[in-house]
Amino acid sequence: MSVFNISPVSETLGAEVLGLDVSKALNSETIATLRNAFQDYHLLCFRDQDLSDEQLTAFSTQFGPLEIFPEEDMTKNAVEVYHVANVSMEGDHLPEDDPRVVYQRNNGRWHTDSSYRYIPSLASIMYGIEVLPHNAEGGETGFSNMLLAYQSLPEDMKTRITHLHQVHSYGEIRRLEPSIPPMSDHERNSLPPVTHPVVRVHPDRDYQRSLYFTSNTSLEIGGFTHEEGKELHKWLVDYVGKEEFCYFHRWRQNDLVMWDNRVLLHRAMEYDFTKYRRVLRRTTVGGDTPVMGPYWPEAIKAAEKTPG
Ligand code: OGA
Ligand code: MN
Repeated sequence: MSVFNISPVSETLGAEVLGLDVSKALNSETIATLRNAFQDYHLLCFRDQDLSDEQLTAFSTQFGPLEIFPEEDMTKNAVEVYHVANVSMEGDHLPEDDPRVVYQRNNGRWHTDSSYRYIPSLASIMYGIEVLPHNAEGGETGFSNMLLAYQSLPEDMKTRITHLHQVHSYGEIRRLEPSIPPMSDHERNSLPPVTHPVVRVHPDRDYQRSLYFTSNTSLEIGGFTHEEGKELHKWLVDYVGKEEFCYFHRWRQNDLVMWDNRVLLHRAMEYDFTKYRRVLRRTTVGGDTPVMGPYWPEAIKAAEKTPG
């Protein structure tokens, strides 16, 4: 039996896993321990891992089937592994206006991965290959706890947003960053916009509620005039950035970070793209149900039992 240690990295979210080599298949007892810790801490950081793309994929698959990136030409190398970097697959440090770097800029907006899907992802798993020197400015990944953020909302705001939805559109990135080349008709057609409730209800947490919205799949909340919808969205974006909900992960080489896309938002923190190289690889574990809002029959029933 392997002996490893799990300890929190902040008061808000996240735990560090030390003494576990995840490059080989894990036994069912270890997987169950990790699943429980993931549920409790929302983010697990496995230090000092040495992983090939195949090993990253094999580790990730132990938590569920993996998603495939929507754009055909970006997935030629490995359909389940995304190259999150300002460096090409061949190792060249890319200029700031290269679409692959512009993508990284879009990751700088608070979001949760795959919210543009009707069934968004459960978890993302990201591996640090080249990271910024420890004294460099920026380059962290910020995480914000949406369970905590929802709980701390003023009561009138909770009431105001209970019935709201956001439209999530994969194509939005082209409006926010027009220099990114267009998708093919086939790609666009396979990813029509979807809507999700802004208040997410979690059956696996006694129907607890959290906030669920992003700023990379649209910049407004639906159901208002454009101005009001944008204003509320901006308020939410500012709100979730409060220190008290956040943990900023400063990457060390060979960190493997797994986070819960159902209850966390995340964003890449700015850094000097021309001065520093940054290379990470990521997989995405698919979700298994659509996002449940407060008006789903199960959620209504649960709220009648324990109001609030
Ligand atoms: C991502 C992402 C954040 C980062 O790859 O989905 O949001 O810090 N990355 O690079
Ligand atoms: Mn992301």
